[in-house]
Amino acid sequence: MNRLKDRQNIRVALAGAVFAATAALPLSVGAQEVTYAADVAPIVQENCVRCHRAGTAAPMVLDSYEQVKAFAPLIKHSVQTRTMPPGWYIDRTLGIQDFKNNPSLSDREIETISLWVDSGMAPGDLSQLPAPVQWQADHEYWQLEQDQGWGPPDMIITSPPFTVPANSGDQWWEPDAAIVDVLDTELTGGRWIRAVETRPADSESGYVFHHANTSLRRAADDGQSGNGAGLSSAAVGKRIDMYPEDAGKLILPDDEIHFSMHLYPIGREVVDAQIQVGIWLYPEGEEPKYTTNDETSFNSGESRDLGLLRYTDLLIPPHGYQMLRGNFVLEQNARVHSIRGHMHLRGGYQMMEVIYPDGRREVINKIDWNHLWHTTHIYEDLVRPLLPKGTVIIATSLLDNTADNPSNPDPDQWVVYNRRSAGEMAHIRFGITWIPDEEFEQMVAERERLLKERDQPAADE
Ligand code: HEC
Repeated sequence: MNRLKDRQNIRVALAGAVFAATAALPLSVGAQEVTYAADVAPIVQENCVRCHRAGTAAPMVLDSYEQVKAFAPLIKHSVQTRTMPPGWYIDRTLGIQDFKNNPSLSDREIETISLWVDSGMAPGDLSQLPAPVQWQADHEYWQLEQDQGWGPPDMIITSPPFTVPANSGDQWWEPDAAIVDVLDTELTGGRWIRAVETRPADSESGYVFHHANTSLRRAADDGQSGNGAGLSSAAVGKRIDMYPEDAGKLILPDDEIHFSMHLYPIGREVVDAQIQVGIWLYPEGEEPKYTTNDETSFNSGESRDLGLLRYTDLLIPPHGYQMLRGNFVLEQNARVHSIRGHMHLRGGYQMMEVIYPDGRREVINKIDWNHLWHTTHIYEDLVRPLLPKGTVIIATSLLDNTADNPSNPDPDQWVVYNRRSAGEMAHIRFGITWIPDEEFEQMVAERERLLKERDQPAADE
């Protein structure tokens, strides 16, 4: 694979550009005052160490002055280009910006790290470092447990084991015969799911795990209607689906959890790689008001209402682009709680726009694609799009098969639709809860009231 080499070349080219740009910036803070102990360690500990510690997939441990200093120029570059912390590719100039799970550093934090590196990386008083965090496992922990302060998952479902050979192409694995029957777990009656998180079962699995989709199927459906019921999707590093506090998904004793996984060989055999799905439930006997439809797919290149195109007709010429657009008219009122893109190596960007029934047009979000990190972007309560029925959703995807796309393995190829990385797909998924008319009107009114309260707190006095 020369993909890695390409990425390195890009990195060198970018590094030049960034260093040139910062040289021209006036230093706004007295550079001497910035130290590792007082300024940098708290930022790194809160935002980086959970991945950059022993036993995780990240390439270096960043938990001490010596280590952080050793990688300082690379760290500065990675934060200035916002490639680290990874996984957040929402265009920062368009659409909604308030999310529950945005791991990005603030401009000020980026400036602090840059100043520290430029001013000689002073240690400061190393006896005053923030207390080290107690990690819950030697590999990737449950974020909902550690970061959100929830307890451990109510159910943990582990995938069947899969051995990844040392050298070969990407491995796609759907263990047909290995359906997990939730009867085998502690689940006794029907319960409501409030959140789902996916993680590699151990650090070895973490090295080979690229992404996994899990879905929940109702035995009574004979698999007919279950395929839309995606339970959770996870990729390296980011793997949470959290439903709104009044919504959930029912899980019954006979339901089945299906796994669909994408694994990478890493040059040595990894025996029995597994992923785990952790499920947090509403308390026994508690039923949320709404069943969420998490997630609903809108395929660029498809116009469901016109029946004109199928998104599987995708065809991208060598060294060229293809723009796909899909239109969908909502037949019910929708409250959107999350957005997630999906493309492969030729992904450029994806954009969701809406035209409301009254003619207003709005960009909901644009996602600049990065194949390595699949993130479910979860909206803050107050900004969840409320889309009345009749709203037109326009889903646009730009596919980029040029040599300028850093993840393109071979711009000389024609590219067609395929689930595998060599082919392309262009889905955009909204996490949706369908809301009945009268309740939707109340929701809109309540939203307006809360926004007014937020924007003019003084008006109440
Ligand atoms: C969600 C896990 C995660 C978090 C959080 C994270 N990293 Fe990383 N980091 C990785 C992984 C995985 C890689 C290797 C793959 C890659 O380069 O994308 C990496 C690579 C790097 C690299 C090497 C980049 C290169 O081009 O070789 C640097 C430097 C880095 N991270 C710094 C940071 C800093 C600084 C932070 C905090 C501000 C941070 N990371 C937060 C997972 C993470």
